Order: sequence, then C-alpha cells, then structure tokens
Amino acid sequence: MAVRLGFIGCGGIANWHMNHLAGLKNVEMVAFCDTDKQRAAGAAEKFNKDAKVFRDYKQMYKEACFDAVYICLPPFAHEEQELIAARNGIHLFVEKPIALDMKLAKSVERAIAKSGVISTAGFQDRYLDTVARLKKELASNQPGLMMGYWMGGMPGVYWWRRKELSGGQAVEQTIHTFDMARYLFGEVKLVHAVSSKGLMKDVPKYNVEDASAVNLQFKSGLCGTIFSSCFAQVANRNGIDVWCKEVAYSYHERGALTIMRAGKDPLVVEQKNDYGTAIDKAFIDAIVKGDQSLLRSSYADAAKTLAVVLAANESMKTGQAVKL
Ligand SMILES: NC(=O)c1ccc[n+]([C@@H]2O[C@H](COP(=O)([O-])OP(=O)(O)OC[C@H]3O[C@@H](n4cnc5c(N)ncnc54)[C@H](O)[C@@H]3O)[C@@H](O)[C@H]2O)c1
Repeated sequence: MAVRLGFIGCGGIANWHMNHLAGLKNVEMVAFCDTDKQRAAGAAEKFNKDAKVFRDYKQMYKEACFDAVYICLPPFAHEEQELIAARNGIHLFVEKPIALDMKLAKSVERAIAKSGVISTAGFQDRYLDTVARLKKELASNQPGLMMGYWMGGMPGVYWWRRKELSGGQAVEQTIHTFDMARYLFGEVKLVHAVSSKGLMKDVPKYNVEDASAVNLQFKSGLCGTIFSSCFAQVANRNGIDVWCKEVAYSYHERGALTIMRAGKDPLVVEQKNDYGTAIDKAFIDAIVKGDQSLLRSSYADAAKTLAVVLAANESMKTGQAVKL
C-alpha cells in the first residue's frame, strides 16, 4: 500500500523533495498546505490533481488523511505542526533548522518519543557516498584538527536576511556543516564564536551577520572552527578539511573528497550518488518497515545540531563561550 504524504510549506525545498518522491512507486502525495495557497495548488496540479489543498495546517490535519508529513517551513514558522503530527501518529520529515528555540524542539522530541513515530530532518549530506567514505577513513585515522566552511552569497527568500526569522547564517545554512561535523566527529562540548557585519549595507531590511567564525571543542578532544560568510561572491570554499597525523582530507560540500597521504599523490574520490532521492527514499522505507535505524538522522539528533548553532548565536551575542 502507498505511503500517503501531506506537505506543510510548498516552497523551494518542498518541491525538491516532491520531485524525488514522484519517482517512487509506493508514495502518494495527498495533501498540500501553504499560506500562499497558489503554491499548494501548484504542487497539487503538478504531483496529484486529486490531492486536497489547504492554507491552514490545522485544517489539513482535521480534513485530510495521511501517514506522514513533510514540514518545509521557514525557520520562524514552526508552531504546532510537528506536535499535532506526533500526537496523531503521523511520521515526520522536518526541514532544518527544525526550530529556532530549544524549548519547542525539546517538546516535539518528547512527543515523538512518546508516540514512536518515524522522524527525520533535512540533512541530506549524510547520504553522500563521499561522506560515507570519509566516515570510514576517520574510523582508522584519528583527527587532530578540523575546519569547516560555508562561503557564499545571500539566499533570495525575504526571511533569510532577518535574524529573528531565519536565525542567521549559522542556524539556517551552515547548520549543514555543523551537522556534518557532529556526524563525523561526535558531540560538541564547548562553543565560542565571533562575527562581523558592515559589508551588506546595500541590502534592505538586512540584520544578520555577514560572517562568523565558530570555535568548537568536541567531547573527543578534537578542536576546530566553522566559518560562514554570506557576502562573498567568490564561493571557493565550502565543506570540511580534516588533518590526521599521516593523512589529510578535503571534503567539498556535496562534491568530491580529496585524500592526501604523506608522500603520495592526492587521490580524488568523485561524488556520484543521488543523495537527494536517497534521503527521501530512506524516509519512506523506514515508514514501510517501521525501522527508524534506516535513517541517518532523527528529529532528536537534529535537535542536538540545533543546540550547537543556537549556542554559536548566543556566543556571538555575548562574547562568552557556551558549554553544551
Ligand atoms: N535541506 C536543504 O538543503 C534545504 C535547502 C533549502 C531550504 N531548506 C530549509 O527548508 C525550509 C524552507 O525553505 P524554502 O527554501 O523552501 O523556503 P520558501 O520560502 O521557498 O518556502 C517556504 C514556504 O512555506 C510557506 N509558509 C510559511 N509559513 C507557513 C505556514 N505557517 N503554513 C504553511 N505554509 C507556510 C511559504 O508561503 C513558502 O511557500 C527552511 O527551513 C530552509 O532552511 C533546506
């Protein structure tokens, strides 16, 4: 039997998921909700003309029948969408960042644990073949230093440039790099961050940092820094570099992994798999089999990554280190 899906938020990333899901045989997209009803109607037109279309998510939960929901909302818009799903036995795919405060994230985490629904978050980078290779390499090579980067321009959506709506770059965007750092190196115990502003004066209604540098101390003892910038039109550095004693790795965000062994030519491992379809398929498979372990991230795990980026924000504000 097909897994029936609802969508709350039918913007850019929702359509990315819908396109993957349309290629899976055991999926039916039955309900679309967006405060901009044209977007919900547009998704129905494209993916299932018989689907129900809503502007209000509470009405969608009352009037439509579905097994799982994709929550693809801007960061500020998370309210009770996840809680209602979990309390009603509806499985959850929540786009990152899953919330803008830990109180909401923790209450959803508890509701999911109580109901036992399958949950995941939009950290598709965990499904890259090059990341699997790097993780395997690190199992036998102890890292001594890591550096992560998300350099680039500013996304066009109106809410991104407002700190109170998006959380700022570390929370909204570089969260992928922070999550990858946790995935590769384990939990973070201390965060200390600094930031800069002043290069984006020509952008109306802009109040996020232009750049930040976030020092991390991992529980393993490893240290590192993750850099963000949204002003740079030359985005030549995205990903993670890791140095071990006899080998160094350079992972390019959603791309190749370069392995540099002492005294040898660098080995470039190209990225080949369709990681976008992989995360959506893993979610559907986990629902069908009732097996959370098929997923590389749960809502509870995503809450741990959220705690790190919110700690970075706090540290940028106060200038103090934050213990986790
Ligand atoms: N995993 C990834 O690589 C990735 C990439 C892009 C975006 N995202 C994340 O996905 C989320 C959405 O980003 P986007 O780029 O799709 O944004 P978007 O602005 O394109 O789409 C968001 C949609 O949500 C709708 N919306 C807002 N409030 C709503 C509400 N209360 N009820 C129903 N609909 C509502 C908006 O009208 C809009 O259509 C963000 O948290 C973003 O960080 C993840």
